[in-house]
Amino acid sequence: MLQGEFGEPKALAMKLLVAVGDIFDAERMIKVKSVQVSGVSYKTIGDAGLEFLEDLSRKGAEATVKTTLNPAGMDLTKWRRMRVPADFASRQMRIISAFKRMRANITCTCIPYFVGNRPRFGESIAWAESSAVAFANSVLGARTNREGGPTALASSITGRTPLYGLHLDENRKPTHVIQVRSELRTDLDFSLLGYALGRKLGYCVPFIEGTCLRKNLDHLKSLGASMATSGAIALYYINGVTAESGLIEEGDLCSLEKIVLGESELRSVKEELTSAESPSYVCLGCPHCSLEEFRTVAKLVGGRRLRAKLWCFTSRKTWQEAEKLGYVAAIEKAGGMLVRDTCMVVSPLDEIGVEKVLTNSCKAAHYLPTLSKVQVALAPLKECVGFAIKGS
Ligand code: F3S
Repeated sequence: MLQGEFGEPKALAMKLLVAVGDIFDAERMIKVKSVQVSGVSYKTIGDAGLEFLEDLSRKGAEATVKTTLNPAGMDLTKWRRMRVPADFASRQMRIISAFKRMRANITCTCIPYFVGNRPRFGESIAWAESSAVAFANSVLGARTNREGGPTALASSITGRTPLYGLHLDENRKPTHVIQVRSELRTDLDFSLLGYALGRKLGYCVPFIEGTCLRKNLDHLKSLGASMATSGAIALYYINGVTAESGLIEEGDLCSLEKIVLGESELRSVKEELTSAESPSYVCLGCPHCSLEEFRTVAKLVGGRRLRAKLWCFTSRKTWQEAEKLGYVAAIEKAGGMLVRDTCMVVSPLDEIGVEKVLTNSCKAAHYLPTLSKVQVALAPLKECVGFAIKGS
């Protein structure tokens, strides 16, 4: 591939992967089963990214393994309803066309593991999107480094990734024991814990202990998303919950540094990330809403009329399932909006006129002020919906 025997796109992609492998002293390349590509929104990649993707697709680049995409910058069909500017929409559609030509699945979600790209235990994959990477490594026990958009795309084209980092057993062992001394009652508490942990330790493989850690996939997706935002954590353990925790023995943890995180650390993250006093929009779905979260929202708003705007972001496939179960109708009848293919962070909220948002996601609270100049307040999902109902 590197020498061009299989065409220019594969040679270009392999050149990038070899360079990365050299940096990390990788012994060889390994095959990957699936790829999650980031850098799909026009808001984040701009004209340079658009031209790069069009050029690559014109040269005949094609996905050789299952390849799914991160959120785009808008709902690909109902973008007018979001008030996305036409120029943005037309450039976004060119990006999507380029990915289609490259035979990627136009999933446009950061929860590929809920919509058909669910790797098995021990499987080697090359995923970008830090929240999905944390979920794949920690909850499913697959193996991926935290890829960037270009390296993930290169892995899609070649079906390979360099063997280093979290593909190797020795790098998957816990490095710290985290003792949680706070009752985690809500989805937001998990998000705050992840953010506090990532901020304190940067990169590590934490083994998290605490009597109050329950197995709820939505909590785990929030936890992983937050720790990958304030830090670079791509794998965590929770005893009895995460896939590889059974392989860790008591003795493995004895010599590790112990960190205690309690109520005060969680409250200080909440204060630090809060910048809005009276939000006008409630945005849920960072990471994208699951079917279970839609069930909760639909139940809370059923039969009522919302006084504040409520936008719920999700994948097209989750939306279809929610529609079949009547959740979409319940939420939209109350005045809420379900937005597919995009998210609050990578859509042009600033151009749409959104200024103050209430959300349950520390990841969104981290990025919105800088990426879109949107002020943010934080509350658990149920309180967010309660706010949308009351309007204050
Ligand atoms: Fe997903 Fe967008 Fe948040 S990609 S994790 S919803 S920033």
